[in-house]
Amino acid sequence: MSPLLGIESLTIQAGGKPLVSNVSFSVAPGERLGLIGESGSGKSLTALASIGLLPDGLQASGSVLLDGRQVVGARDRDLVPLRGTVAAVVFQEPLTALDPLMTIGRQVGIAVRRRAKRDGHPTDSITVMGEVLDLLDQVSLPQPQRIAEAWPHEVSGGQRQRAAIAMALACKPKLLIADEPTTALDVTTQAEILKLLGQLVRERNMALLFISHDLPVVAGAVDRVVVLRHGSIVEQGPVATVFGQPSHEYTQSLVAAARAFDDALEIAP
Ligand SMILES: Nc1ncnc2c1ncn2[C@@H]1O[C@H](COP(=O)(O)OP(=O)(O)O)[C@@H](O)[C@H]1O
Ligand SMILES: [Mg+2]
Repeated sequence: MSPLLGIESLTIQAGGKPLVSNVSFSVAPGERLGLIGESGSGKSLTALASIGLLPDGLQASGSVLLDGRQVVGARDRDLVPLRGTVAAVVFQEPLTALDPLMTIGRQVGIAVRRRAKRDGHPTDSITVMGEVLDLLDQVSLPQPQRIAEAWPHEVSGGQRQRAAIAMALACKPKLLIADEPTTALDVTTQAEILKLLGQLVRERNMALLFISHDLPVVAGAVDRVVVLRHGSIVEQGPVATVFGQPSHEYTQSLVAAARAFDDALEIAP
């Protein structure tokens, strides 16, 4: 089966300085892949390059095939149809995805209407709002009507992240890219959002590219992992192998640190 996302020798530079070097990995349809590494290791840039959204001033080379289409060097207007429908992104801070000046219902509605247009389905307000409420319900937001009418600042961080996930789902993407989706949340909310993402991905048979600096979080959410350090891949393989018998020194140190943290929690009174 050809991969949904196929990255070959991706290098990202800023003024000649490499930030990501020679990265290759792929995500098959329905597969859940984790991208881990410490802060600054190039995770977000790799994710942004996957959908052709690198910030100005950065140059990508190599090859990124998204659903068979080349992203590196493509014109923005050729990528627009892929965003949302082939791959959608959920970011760390839901406030970056949500417009503070629009009610949550209106913004989810924009995404719903875009997809309805694409599919030739009705785009009248009643149909769209019905679907918005349905999506808010699917991400387990209580009282969807109230949330739809709320402004982003009026709901909690976890609820905002659920709304951002609902927006990402509105276009029925084949691949969901989640860039540290739980990092800004408290531990309890983090666990709930992880559970929700796992459930949604399974139910819809979506592929998942899950990005995190947090090893235990990744381990529970994916089948395979890629470990990045200083912009290069140091190790990749099935979760059980990479975490059970890490071959690279850096992965070994990540695993040891996670174990030490677990042990400290266990002996805490
Ligand atoms: N727009 C930019 N211009 C120059 N350097 C950048 C830019 N964005 C990120 N970087 C640098 O690229 C490296 C990788 O960044 P990033 O992918 O955001 O890391 P991560 O997501 O793993 O924390 C970091 O050293 C960061 O400082
Ligand atoms: Mg990042």
